[in-house]
Amino acid sequence: MAKKLKVGVIGVGGIAKTHFPGWKSSPDAELVALADPMGEVLKKVAAEHGVAKTYEKPEDLIADPDLDIVDVCTPNMYHAPLTIAALNAGKHVICEKPLAPTPAEIKQMIAARDKSGKLLMTAQHFRFDGRSKALKAELETGRLGDVYHARGWMLRRAGLLPRTSFTLKKHSGGGPCIDIGVHILDLTLWMMGNPKPIAVSGITQDRLRKIPGSFTPWGGLLPREKDWDVEEFAAAFVRFSNGATMVLEVSWLLHHKTTGEDMQMWLYGEKGGAHWPTLELLETNYKSQQHLNTTLVMSGGQEAHAAECVAFADAVAHGKPSPVPAEQSYDVLSILDGIYRSSAGNKEIVLE
Ligand SMILES: NC(=O)c1ccc[n+]([C@@H]2O[C@H](COP(=O)([O-])OP(=O)(O)OC[C@H]3O[C@@H](n4cnc5c(N)ncnc54)[C@H](O)[C@@H]3O)[C@@H](O)[C@H]2O)c1
Repeated sequence: MAKKLKVGVIGVGGIAKTHFPGWKSSPDAELVALADPMGEVLKKVAAEHGVAKTYEKPEDLIADPDLDIVDVCTPNMYHAPLTIAALNAGKHVICEKPLAPTPAEIKQMIAARDKSGKLLMTAQHFRFDGRSKALKAELETGRLGDVYHARGWMLRRAGLLPRTSFTLKKHSGGGPCIDIGVHILDLTLWMMGNPKPIAVSGITQDRLRKIPGSFTPWGGLLPREKDWDVEEFAAAFVRFSNGATMVLEVSWLLHHKTTGEDMQMWLYGEKGGAHWPTLELLETNYKSQQHLNTTLVMSGGQEAHAAECVAFADAVAHGKPSPVPAEQSYDVLSILDGIYRSSAGNKEIVLE
């Protein structure tokens, strides 16, 4: 049996813990090192997961010659510098979403990847959810025909972690666009076949969090003025080079009926429509003049965060392409960046 790829994870917070089961179950990889500046937390997590090597400085993990794969699970602002350093050190890199908060940084990451000849993947776990895989497989048969319009939304009534790592742009890069917009946008573009976005018209809003007493059940009162400079809501209309269009809505704070989070997508094609996550398909029999509604059957599978790590190790081990290429994340961040620019300039933005 081939030698297993050795994995080091940088940042051992909430999301890293969802990656560990993937590395542990992968037939191609093993988790051997962790890095985090919080020494006590690092030691505790390493002991819990039986990981022998620990580094308080991420650059020391990156320099470890034993490692083949670096898994970046830090706050957003460190994604680009750590990923570029790891690629330059000859490691394959899987990096949490957003790959970086701006398209400019993703361009630099792509250049570093190309120079290194290593694989780079964005951890967009929703693509590895059983419901997503079932719908994507059906779309690839051509059952819906040409998908020419989509609607995607990820809306929370009052759902955010009220910490400056989320609410200050210098730490997060943006509000719900960057935090959760990347999820629904990445998933929708992937279902549409990743058409090239060419223009975006968008608006961001910042209203409810300013109301005295504004709170989230996820952590109490919201940060005040000096600790919040990001949007709380955004809506956008996107045009693609193939003539397709998309409407996007994202929020952390909105008077929208939901328990926790409402994440949905509609895809509209010439032969049919589809809804995620219910997997309903809407088709038409023109001969009998009937509308037909069916629901796709989904098979189970591994939890999506774990599954994305297994897929990355499989790609590295067997010379396959990146399961989530950085070019697709560049398009996602170009749209989100376009929303900010469109809102600030009150006009449609043509994307490069
Ligand atoms: N895919 C998903 O479902 C999902 C969900 C939550 C978060 N995320 C993403 O995961 C990333 C981390 O979020 P989280 O919720 O785990 O945050 P977290 O605060 O729980 O953990 C982040 C960890 O990174 C460490 N850290 C900070 N700066 C570092 C540095 N320079 N080098 C090394 N370690 C550093 C912190 O000490 C902390 O332990 C973010 O980019 C976020 O967008 C993804």
